[in-house]
Amino acid sequence: MKKYFIYGIIFLLLGLVGFAFGYFAKSITPDNSNNDNNSNFSIEDKTMISLPKPNKDGSVSLEEALSLRRSVRQYSETPLTLEDISQLLWSAQGVTDERGFRTAPSAGATFPLEMYFVVNHSEDLDKGIYHYYPDSHSIYLVREGDFGSDVQSACMGQSSVGDASVIFIFGAVFERTMDRYGERGKRYVYNEIGHASQNLHLQAAALDLGTVVIGAYSDEEIEKILNLGQDVNVLYVMPVGKISL
Ligand SMILES: Cc1cc2nc3c(=O)[nH]c(=O)nc-3n(C[C@H](O)[C@H](O)[C@H](O)COP(=O)(O)O)c2cc1C
Repeated sequence: MKKYFIYGIIFLLLGLVGFAFGYFAKSITPDNSNNDNNSNFSIEDKTMISLPKPNKDGSVSLEEALSLRRSVRQYSETPLTLEDISQLLWSAQGVTDERGFRTAPSAGATFPLEMYFVVNHSEDLDKGIYHYYPDSHSIYLVREGDFGSDVQSACMGQSSVGDASVIFIFGAVFERTMDRYGERGKRYVYNEIGHASQNLHLQAAALDLGTVVIGAYSDEEIEKILNLGQDVNVLYVMPVGKISL
């Protein structure tokens, strides 16, 4: 009888160790699952495009970029290149180590942010809505077409949005962070969007591109244009273009 009791205790301890290990592993491993679940489009609807490698040795210092950063709302019609787009996406959410960790910090490495962008004019990409995949540094064409003026209307008609070459849109899946941290996780997601958007702001300054963070928009309208799943909330819009002199 005593023997079975001891076996029982051993099994219980092994179970506890297994649970603790699973929890710990989850806490350090980013969720690299296919984020296509976050939009209502199926994978067959999409075309994947590999992006050029980001430049990690630019000629503008961090201090210069910090001094140069300004909200810019008027852009020339010169289109952004694929290199520009690649660099901007990488600055906000690019993967910078083998664990999948990124340029911006993330509470518990839960990575709640999803990046989309709308191409108004680019030499290298068709007009449409794209979704960024940090792990493979690639993008999917989610939906082809001209959506610039729709996004501008959703942003209270702000001309910076309609005039931009590319409009970056940050979404967030709050559950990824709130599943771990409860109600406080909501604050962490808001903290994280600040990190990622500032990275993009500084990268734009370093590339001599103009941008501004847009907070005045209709959540419902943007989410409808992007056809986002219920679990994705839009947190920021950033139009980017060559600075109009
Ligand atoms: C949360 C937030 C929301 C903002 N929303 C808008 C916006 O909808 N439209 C806009 O043109 N600028 C917007 N801005 C940019 C501010 O107007 C700008 O940062 C401010 O005028 C200071 O200028 P600076 O960025 O050049 O330092 C926003 C800034 C923040 C932080």
